[in-house]
Formats: sequence, structure tokens, C-alpha cells
Amino acid sequence: MSVQLKSAEDIEKMRVAGRLAAEVLDFVGPQIVPGITTEEIDRLCHDYMVDVQGTVPAPLNYSPPGYSPFPKSICTSVNHVVCHGIPGPKKLKAGDVVNVDITVIKDGYHGDTSRMFYVGEPSIQARRLCELTYECMWRGIRVVRPGAFLGDIGHTIQTHAEAHGFSVVREFCGHGIGRRFHEEPQVLHYGRPHTGLKLAPGMTFTIEPMINAGKAGIRQLADGWTVVTKDHSLSAQWEHTILVTEDGFEVLTTSVGTPAPPGD
Ligand code: MF3
Ligand code: CO
Ligand code: CO
Repeated sequence: MSVQLKSAEDIEKMRVAGRLAAEVLDFVGPQIVPGITTEEIDRLCHDYMVDVQGTVPAPLNYSPPGYSPFPKSICTSVNHVVCHGIPGPKKLKAGDVVNVDITVIKDGYHGDTSRMFYVGEPSIQARRLCELTYECMWRGIRVVRPGAFLGDIGHTIQTHAEAHGFSVVREFCGHGIGRRFHEEPQVLHYGRPHTGLKLAPGMTFTIEPMINAGKAGIRQLADGWTVVTKDHSLSAQWEHTILVTEDGFEVLTTSVGTPAPPGD
């Protein structure tokens, strides 16, 4: 399968799904305080999606080739967890940072977005990593326009992260999205300018850099999903779903509570 261009009707449905995914984060963000468990965050999000929005949580029972079905409705990745953290009974404590990754299906279309949340007050280093990762995502987004290359996105993200002494996780990437959760193309968060796929209007994909405070190496836990940093350093991630427009980009996963783009 090659990269499909979305029609005007597809795009309108992607806008709805994207906004709904972002609204789950708006809803749950204020409830992420010391003492809550990631299982409770999952339950809050699940019930909001199913009972309030009428959306389907895409992660629940998602089982790509080689993976067991994902057992929960969202991913919660705390501190040194890079991505795909499975919600569980562990209580969050002040100083933790957690990525909440939401993917909803509405009217057959997916919206996929994640944000970092501070539990109480983060350390200076944790705050720096989260902010820098947010800047990396946005530097990638700002590259998006017809005629730009996927390699341009990866290059700008990698350059910004490494200039600050951080590293880019290589094993996981952004992805095309639409009627399917993960479709072509793969959107690497590292690379060389002017390489890879040339962008065209109607493409929809995610940009979701995972940036480590230490080395880039990762390890997969025995649960088959949870990915952690090999050196146990902190890791952060932000994600938006993006549309390539006639003259640039549109962020599809925006809501009232979406953080403002960085001013850099
Ligand atoms: N939402 C993740 C992404 O951004 C994928 C999670 S797969 C799951 O691509 F099964 F763990 F939910
Ligand atoms: Co994604
Ligand atoms: Co996601």
C-alpha cells in the first residue's frame, strides 16, 4: 500500500476525530495529580470517550503483527518509560512526568495525540526535557508543506534535540493515519534533509518525537508493550496529527486546551 491522499470528506472527518482526541486530554489533564493511578486515568478517559463522546478507544485490544492485544484504552508512559506504557495500579507521585497518549476512532477515522503532564512540580531537568521535546515536535510540524521531504522533518527534530545534549529514539516513529491507526508513511524523527517521501496536499500523518535525557537506547519489557530507556534516563514525547495543506500544514488534534505553539 502506498500513501493515500485524503479527500475533502475524509479531511472533515479527520478534523472531528482529531479534536475529540485532544478533548480527552483537556478533560483528563486537571485530574492528573499526586496519588492517582494510571489505571484510574485510563478509566476516566475510557468512560469519557465511550459515554460522553461516542468515540472508540483505538488502543483497546489493538494487536499489530507480533504484538499481543493492548489491554487498555490509552497509553500512560511515566518518567523513564518511552512509550506504550500500560495503565496499572501504580500511584503517580509529585515530581513524576507522564505522557498520556489518546487515539480515538470517530465515524471510521482516527485522531492520535499525546501530551506530557507534570505531577506536582517537576525537576528542572524534567521540565527542560518536556519543553525541549515540545519544541522538537513543533519544529517538525513547521517544516510541513507541499514539496518538503519527510527527511526534513526528521532532520530538524534530531538537530534540535542533539544540540541540547538529548537523544532521539530510533525504533518508533510517526505514521500515516486515517481509516487505519497506523498506515504509510513512516515519519522518522531523525534523518537527512531532502531525503525520503516528498509531501503533498491531502497527506495526514503524526509527528510524535520520543526524546531521551540520556542515551537513545531502549528496551522492551516482558509485558510485550512497555518501552523504557536502556539507561533509565527520563524520556518525553508529544504528538499531533497533521494534514498537509495546499500551502503548509493544519494541526488536526487541536482543542480549547491545546498548549500554544512555542515562541522560538
Ligand atoms: N498512540 C500510539 C501512537 O502514537 C500507539 C499506541 S499502540 C497501543 O502511535 F496499542 F499501544 F495503543
Ligand atoms: Co501515533
Ligand atoms: Co499516539
